[in-house]
Amino acid sequence: MKLLLAVWAALGIGLAAKDTCLDCHSVLDGKLQAPAAAFAGDVHAKRGFHCSDCHGGDPNAEDPQQSMSRAKGYLGKAPRTAIPKVCARCHSDANLIHKFRPQQRVDQLALYQTSVHGKRLAAGDNKVATCIDCHSVHDIRETRDAQSPVHPLRLPSTCARCHASKQHMASYKIPTSQFQDYQTSVHWEALAKRRDLSAPSCATCHGNHGATPPEVSSVAAVCGTCHVLFEDLFNKSPHQPVFAAAGQASCIVCHSNHAIHKPSTAMLAGDASVCAPCHDKESEGGKASAEMAGLIRRLDASLEKSDRILERARSSGMEVSEALLRQTEAKEHLVKARVAVHAFNPAQLRKPVEEGLAIASQTYSSGEQALVERDRRRLFMVVSVTMIFLTLAGLWWTIRRIEQNRSVIP
Ligand code: HEC
Ligand code: HEC
Ligand code: HEC
Ligand code: HEC
Ligand code: HEC
Ligand code: HEC
Ligand code: HEC
Ligand code: HEC
Ligand code: HEC
Repeated sequence: MKLLLAVWAALGIGLAAKDTCLDCHSVLDGKLQAPAAAFAGDVHAKRGFHCSDCHGGDPNAEDPQQSMSRAKGYLGKAPRTAIPKVCARCHSDANLIHKFRPQQRVDQLALYQTSVHGKRLAAGDNKVATCIDCHSVHDIRETRDAQSPVHPLRLPSTCARCHASKQHMASYKIPTSQFQDYQTSVHWEALAKRRDLSAPSCATCHGNHGATPPEVSSVAAVCGTCHVLFEDLFNKSPHQPVFAAAGQASCIVCHSNHAIHKPSTAMLAGDASVCAPCHDKESEGGKASAEMAGLIRRLDASLEKSDRILERARSSGMEVSEALLRQTEAKEHLVKARVAVHAFNPAQLRKPVEEGLAIASQTYSSGEQALVERDRRRLFMVVSVTMIFLTLAGLWWTIRRIEQNRSVIP
């Protein structure tokens, strides 16, 4: 028995593993029990930490007067303004954190303090997000866990708990539409419907801990981290210097920030043109937008026409795989033209559009030829079948004649 206890103690279990906080709180109820009930799934419990690692106190004492005594370092329930420090005691300590995960960052508090959330909390504003509003508490998960409130798919609703609440945000001067708008965006569609984790969630643009609105000057940089080609062209365009000088954020002038929808030529010409507010129809910009829309629509329409004829040929059994492959190539020119819009110079669209049109006209001819060939084969079939039928009929008729002649002979 003594031996067993010695082994027990050597393994560091036993006395050290005694946790009167957990034991007692497990049998309480309501708000006092909830932390104990949730704790088994918490990343800290899994890493061997205890209630006392955040709350202080003595987890070996049975008597609550003793275990929760200030003399034993008991801190109680941290006020909201003190929460970042509770977490940072470990998370800013590289020595400790790197024992568990060598590559883990230890700058969360430092970044947080630079954010609007952190600055306002330091000034005593309790309504901003602290560590636990994003990560939860007593049920904190690894960030890659799909159940974690900061997982990219769940993060928008985590931010929305405050940012979409008119009541919570009533005393501030910012809109509460970010979540609703974002949910209509191409980005949320890519993330939620196609599970494309390369599409941005709230924190991709705002930062995980430095949750600030990207500075106007850095917005192009935010979008440009993923849409590199667009940024390059925009930066060389006539708009870059004038937008920058006017303090207008580049990409979002035309695409917005949260409600980014699938672009089309409707953005260039027509009632929904994004150019119209700044350029009237007769101006150089107005003419340029109409010309670019015309070029893109022409290529788009030609490609559709070729698509249709090739599909007819394919579905009637003709071999058109080579033309279909070239069609893919032509569609790349359409993509290039849409990127080239961002030079805001129609001359830059002409080359990809002309190349695309040339291929589209070739693939259309291939489709036409395939249909002519199909008709030729059909005609050949009809003629052959008719010939065979006539031959058979002739044979049958001859045989009958021979048989009739025989029966006449006595
Ligand atoms: C024998 C039972 C018992 C033990 C052991 C115990 N607690 Fe408690 N704890 C309570 C009760 C009852 C309350 C509510 C009354 C109070 O605040 O004193 C409470 C309250 C708390 C609160 C909430 C305080 C607040 O201000 O809302 C925290 C945090 C807490 N305990 C943490 C701990 C920690 C950490 C330990 C271990 C070091 C521990 N408790 C040990 C029974 C216990
Ligand atoms: C990772 C740090 C951490 C650990 C570990 C932790 N807590 Fe807490 N606990 C907190 C923080 C932070 C708060 C304040 C939450 C708030 O303001 O809503 C809190 C709040 C509480 C409260 C008050 C709940 C309320 O709604 O008023 C109780 C009781 C409590 N903890 C008990 C425990 C017990 C029991 C354990 C172990 C099973 C534990 N805590 C483990 C950080 C921790
Ligand atoms: C007693 C030290 C300690 C305290 C206090 C502490 N943590 Fe941790 N925490 C750790 C360690 C160690 C890990 C495991 C290393 C890792 O995965 O980063 C961890 C892991 C995490 C993770 C998972 C990170 C990942 O890998 O995805 C999150 C999130 C986290 N803690 C948040 C918090 C929050 C929020 C608080 C304050 C309420 C807090 N921690 C308080 C030590 C602590
Ligand atoms: C505004 C929301 C928000 C707040 C506030 C917040 N976090 Fe995070 N935290 C995140 C997001 C988002 C991630 C990254 C998730 C991912 O990688 O997909 C993250 C990641 C982490 C990680 C994993 C390592 C890393 O840095 O990527 C730790 C540890 C962590 N947070 C601790 C903290 C601590 C400690 C605080 C308070 C000082 C805090 N967080 C405040 C949203 C928040
Ligand atoms: C607990 C509530 C809460 C949560 C959760 C929260 N925020 Fe906030 N946030 C606020 C409050 C309150 C402000 C202060 C508003 C102000 O100063 O205009 C703020 C400010 C901001 C700002 C600065 C706005 C400005 O222009 O002043 C940004 C950006 C921001 N939050 C993004 C986020 C993101 C992204 C998330 C999720 C990862 C998030 N917040 C989660 C409450 C929250
Ligand atoms: C594709 C990048 C991107 C994503 C994703 C994104 N934002 Fe923003 N957000 C921005 C930009 C850019 C601004 C600054 C707009 C400006 O300067 O006019 C902004 C501004 C804000 C502001 C300041 C107030 C306002 O509306 O102007 C808040 C708060 C905010 N975003 C919260 C969120 C939340 C919450 C989410 C997730 C539901 C989110 N953002 C997703 C880029 C993004
Ligand atoms: C983290 C990377 C990332 C960031 C940052 C980002 N995007 Fe995206 N964006 C994507 C992905 C991924 C898609 C989906 C691509 C697809 O549909 O195949 C996308 C799609 C789009 C589309 C639709 C493209 C199409 O062909 O339908 C537009 C427009 C767009 N983003 C504009 C923006 C703007 C403006 C910003 C900055 C406010 C921005 N993006 C920031 C990754 C990003
Ligand atoms: C002056 C207005 C304007 C600005 C500024 C602008 N765009 Fe566009 N963008 C457009 C128009 C118009 C289209 C639609 C072209 C089409 O499909 O006919 C478009 C299309 C797109 C597409 C989709 C291309 C596709 O293949 O369908 C993406 C992605 C995009 N823009 C990203 C960006 C990024 C990133 C920035 C900032 C660097 C930016 N845009 C700045 C007007 C603008
Ligand atoms: C926010 C206002 C604004 C929007 C929106 C806008 N532009 Fe411009 N654009 C300008 C300004 C300002 C200039 C610089 C005029 C100058 O230098 O005289 C300019 C310059 C141009 C030029 C160079 C010729 C010229 O007039 O100097 C073209 C071409 C152009 N824009 C096309 C477009 C197209 C196409 C769109 C829509 C996709 C668009 N612009 C959207 C403000 C805008």
